[in-house]
Amino acid sequence: MTVQLAPSILSADFSRLAEEVARVSTVADLVHVDVMDNHFVPNLTLGPVVVESLRRATHLPLDLHLMIEDPDRWAPGYVALGASLVTFHVEAARDPVQTARAIRSEGGRAGLALKPGTPLAPYADILREFDMVLVMTVEPGFGGQSFIAEMLPKIAEARAAIAALDLDIWLEVDGGINEETAVRCAEAGADVLVAGSAVFDAADPEAAGRAIKAAAELALSARAGSGA
Ligand code: DX5
Ligand code: ZN
Repeated sequence: MTVQLAPSILSADFSRLAEEVARVSTVADLVHVDVMDNHFVPNLTLGPVVVESLRRATHLPLDLHLMIEDPDRWAPGYVALGASLVTFHVEAARDPVQTARAIRSEGGRAGLALKPGTPLAPYADILREFDMVLVMTVEPGFGGQSFIAEMLPKIAEARAAIAALDLDIWLEVDGGINEETAVRCAEAGADVLVAGSAVFDAADPEAAGRAIKAAAELALSARAGSGA
């Protein structure tokens, strides 16, 4: 079973983003890019201009995590700027299905993000419109926070809902992911792991990423082997 690792550049040195991305390029499957607008979350990061520059700086797919108000208006446009995946928060969206369709019609993969306090069940019926579900395992806004273990049942619930649809929908987790929590998330069914501080704050980011990925892959394979 494969696990995809998406190092989050939120924990990288923003004055040298291209070099930072290059440091993890042999272990990263995706580059996780956190877009924050200071309204949906109390933090401000980057927008279209930086995404465009990143697109030119790496061949890796860009995994955009939009923590912004009015994603209906802004999300689809990020595909043309070079994002492969555009994930937006359902709490902020007026019409998540329409927005997912717009992202897909631009040629991107659409992701549905849930804050820790947002249940999955009300959205089970619209999952088929998406290519990825993102279960936040911290409150969105900042890197370096502790993993919220109470999210593990929601990850398992999302995996079961995806399995019931029999579609190729990825299940991403984001927040407090390290070697230990990655294993617990993979056991619950996550197959895309975002890791910011655990990768970029490590002395050897590449080795740290490799360790997280290998541990999670073992756990996901064991899960598949058990027929869960
Ligand atoms: C937080 C962001 C995360 C953040 C994770 O709102 O969505 O992607 O970078 O950072 P760590 O891995 O340090 O918790
Ligand atoms: Zn994120």
